Amino acid sequence: MYSSRADRPRRVKSFDSVNTNIDENQLNNEFIKASYMKTEDNKENNDSLSEKNRASVIFSLKDEVGGLVKALKLFQEKHVNLIHIESRKSKRRNSEFEIFLDCDIDGEQLNEIFQLLKPHVNLITMNPPDNFSVEEDDMESVTWFPTKISELDKCANRVLMYGSDLDADHPGFKDNVYRKRRKHFADIAMNYRYGDPIPRIEFTEEEIKTWGTVFRELNKLYPTHACKEYMKNLPLLSKYCGCREDNIPQLEDVSRFLKERSGFTIRPVAGYLSPRDFLAGLAFRVFHCTQYVRHSSDPLYTPEPDTCHELLGHVPLLAEPSFAQFSQEIGLASLGASDEAVQKLATCYFFTVEFGLCKQEGKLKVYGAGLLSSISELKHALSGNCAVKPFDPMVTCKQECIITSFQEVYFVSETFEEAKEKMREFAKTIKRPFGLKYNPYTQSVQVLKDTKSITNVVSDLRHELDIVSDALSKMNKQLGV
Ligand SMILES: [Fe+2]
Repeated sequence: MYSSRADRPRRVKSFDSVNTNIDENQLNNEFIKASYMKTEDNKENNDSLSEKNRASVIFSLKDEVGGLVKALKLFQEKHVNLIHIESRKSKRRNSEFEIFLDCDIDGEQLNEIFQLLKPHVNLITMNPPDNFSVEEDDMESVTWFPTKISELDKCANRVLMYGSDLDADHPGFKDNVYRKRRKHFADIAMNYRYGDPIPRIEFTEEEIKTWGTVFRELNKLYPTHACKEYMKNLPLLSKYCGCREDNIPQLEDVSRFLKERSGFTIRPVAGYLSPRDFLAGLAFRVFHCTQYVRHSSDPLYTPEPDTCHELLGHVPLLAEPSFAQFSQEIGLASLGASDEAVQKLATCYFFTVEFGLCKQEGKLKVYGAGLLSSISELKHALSGNCAVKPFDPMVTCKQECIITSFQEVYFVSETFEEAKEKMREFAKTIKRPFGLKYNPYTQSVQVLKDTKSITNVVSDLRHELDIVSDALSKMNKQLGV
């Protein structure tokens, strides 16, 4: 990413006046340095150049045969009109020559030229125009992440475990019929692409019976154990998606229901995703959801998330706007974050969205989907016999996540709003060389890393504040204030 540097030369009138001396410490940290400057004269000419800016590019040549020809050819190939060329002995390194170019170039062309020049030249410093940003060292170290919802196609199929291959200790491992069925579900998920309707499933009698057992037993506990938001939304799932003891809702219907309630949509998945890929979905309000039913031999146990867990555990709360926002913010914080930061976020997700407790009317209640879909752990979490601590991301992120038995500690939040505020503060501690803003219209994230992108956000915010201001003034008039 392009980073602002105080020592970068500003507008210059001639090559000779450009000071390319930089201190050695900085030099050691830069394998490539470039200079791109708008001159005072050039600035005046900008009006007649439409999209392009008159710009000066300075670079020093590497010690190789034909270096200058190679460099200039790149400008020719990109159809960049060179106005003026000079060369001089480098003031920084005696052995080097520096080349000064005046050219008409737009930001996109400059970005391309910059990347192409890298192998052939030592560039000096950068001073980009307002509409220019360079993917420099900082961004190169950032792990790829989707910037629009359709790009989830690139990471939604990287299933880490289960899917169609079951471990030897899985209850369905020796059941060939079950394994064939799992393959069918895995194929649906792997072939799914953004925008497709989620294929409807004709569930077998055995699957419906297993689901019915889970549904019946959990519904006995919900009135005393589940939080009020869950209890408010569960009947809606029955009403709009046919969630009943004798009917497993179709993911496509659930996705449409959630879209209306909170903007979340469902995407079928074959098995466990990595924390990074799973959290990336949340950033776009996409919930990766398994479609298969656990093995019938033990309806009250599953070693992996199944559709009973997703539908009964997650969906009622994903329909709650404040919870949806909380989930999305964890996802947004994960995009482009380091592996260590993603792990911390995933742990916070685990102890909130999966195993979280909250306080309502003086009593502990459950909102975590892992608890709301497990009869034994749901009872255990509110039994009074386990450790409960206040949710604090800085503390929670260090807690060990236990998959094979009950958690050693549960974390309690007063409200989703409070949990969201704490996650926001925590997210600020995650180091990323850019900011992100979600655009709900295009279901994409805006990467904020240069003055232009930030200015655009400020402009949008100003417009929204104008709307609020206008509404307030109308209300005041009505009230006679
Ligand atoms: Fe889950």
